[in-house]
Amino acid sequence: MFEIAPSILSADFTRLGEEIRAIEAGGAKILHVDVMDGRFVPNITIGLPVVKSIRKVTDLPIDCHLMIIEPSRYAVEFVEAGANMVSVHVEIDPHLQRTLTVIRGAGGQAGVAINPATPLVSLEEALPFADFILLMSVNPGFGGQKFIHTSIDKLRRLRQMIDDRGLETRIEIDGGIDASNIKQITDAGAEIIVSGTGVFGKGNPTEGVRELIEAATVWA
Ligand code: DX5
Ligand code: ZN
Repeated sequence: MFEIAPSILSADFTRLGEEIRAIEAGGAKILHVDVMDGRFVPNITIGLPVVKSIRKVTDLPIDCHLMIIEPSRYAVEFVEAGANMVSVHVEIDPHLQRTLTVIRGAGGQAGVAINPATPLVSLEEALPFADFILLMSVNPGFGGQKFIHTSIDKLRRLRQMIDDRGLETRIEIDGGIDASNIKQITDAGAEIIVSGTGVFGKGNPTEGVRELIEAATVWA
């Protein structure tokens, strides 16, 4: 089973409420919100006020992907603003176990995000404290980048790592995913599929979500 999590980074921000209704109509199950600070990644996007606003217009779980330095300073504030899931990057938090525990304590699901060149072994000690892993299949910072093909093998190894430990940790994958590659990705064991351009790129987000679901469910 998989769920589609459209990234609102590629939505039309002047009509964000309508865009959210459109993806709900298509069958989206999670709303992915990319928070960037211009420090950890070379781009600045949106933050707490926008999360508070979108909380009022949707019942979908809100998934905040924090691409910021010092994520532990803000993680709980995102839960309080209405996020159901909050992920922090393993590359930027020296006290990851504490941050994950604090997110859970605030009532959120705690996630660890991991960049393409960061080895999976860096997740090992944090896994029991995480509700999900956000595997990046592009270097974070921008929508519309090309899927890094080695991510499929990394995804399979992460699936194995979680299954070997008998953990329930879910796998989310993010970056460069569209109808052409989603089946390969769900087959390799990803459960939450983030897509920005794949959903919003053609101007019909309802259809965009439906296309992804169909592409992932075709019989081989
Ligand atoms: C990249 C973000 C992604 C991005 C995905 O830094 O984390 O969530 O919005 O967009 P696409 O699907 O266009 O690669
Ligand atoms: Zn993201």
